[in-house]
Amino acid sequence: MSIKTEINRDDYLDNNNIFSKVWKNLEDVNNYPKRLNKIIIKDFDEFDSKARSQDLKFAEETVSSLLNGDCYILKNALKKDYLNFIKEKTYQYFQNSESTFHKMYEGVPNYYRFIDASIADNYAFHQVKQVYYFFPFNPNELNLFENANKVWRVTKIISGYNEKIWENNTPKDGIIDRIQIVRYFPRDAKLKLHTDPYLYQRFFISCIMSKKGEDYNDGGLYLLDEKDNKVDAEIHSDVGDVVFAVPTIYHGVDPCDLDKAPSAKEKDGRWLLSLYSIMSNYIEDRHTSKPQKISIK
Ligand SMILES: [Fe+2]
Repeated sequence: MSIKTEINRDDYLDNNNIFSKVWKNLEDVNNYPKRLNKIIIKDFDEFDSKARSQDLKFAEETVSSLLNGDCYILKNALKKDYLNFIKEKTYQYFQNSESTFHKMYEGVPNYYRFIDASIADNYAFHQVKQVYYFFPFNPNELNLFENANKVWRVTKIISGYNEKIWENNTPKDGIIDRIQIVRYFPRDAKLKLHTDPYLYQRFFISCIMSKKGEDYNDGGLYLLDEKDNKVDAEIHSDVGDVVFAVPTIYHGVDPCDLDKAPSAKEKDGRWLLSLYSIMSNYIEDRHTSKPQKISIK
């Protein structure tokens, strides 16, 4: 079975959600942000309740700011204790699992993948990391989706969709929610400069699980500004915050702890939880991320 489909964002819009009209009005399909404008810091609960209030002025301000290249950091979205718990559990999965790979067809299990330098270029752009993939239709002892959906739903609302869109999908439905818990281990783990596809998911979404300056030094997520300077997004983030922006903005992840020797057996480095509604392998012509070459200052 394969699904031939044109992905059309408008098909997913929820007409009862004020944000759907605002995106239609403000979006210029030939002009998406390529550079970071500024970082905006807000409290998660306040942002969540404003999004749910469906206030037109808030919706217009938020969408135009996102389309203008602003990156949002929402403070205290998830509880630190919970994130430490899932870090510990995922660390145990890493230790007790073989690195493997599964295409996203019906029955795809949760799985561990160690993307080391030898396979880093098999991906759309060069990346090195340890990652555990979780799907909502598999049993999960961590209550991962119940917790992550708190974050996911508000980003779906401000995208103009129903807050629960894709939550109950399985691969045969075409688009599925997938969570990655990622460990950027010291020195070698990184994502080279890239942009992600802007199709139906409007943002890259990361929940911070490690604090720069405490859990690791150096590196982490950066975005490029108009002058091709790297802007560090980590210095503003704490464990429990969520970071999101339109993924056509050039971004990457620089290595952390350059002076440490990397080990797959350790728990150090930079951890995060990332949310992505992804096309299953039943869809022909899956769009993936693009590497980008720019001389960074
Ligand atoms: Fe990305």
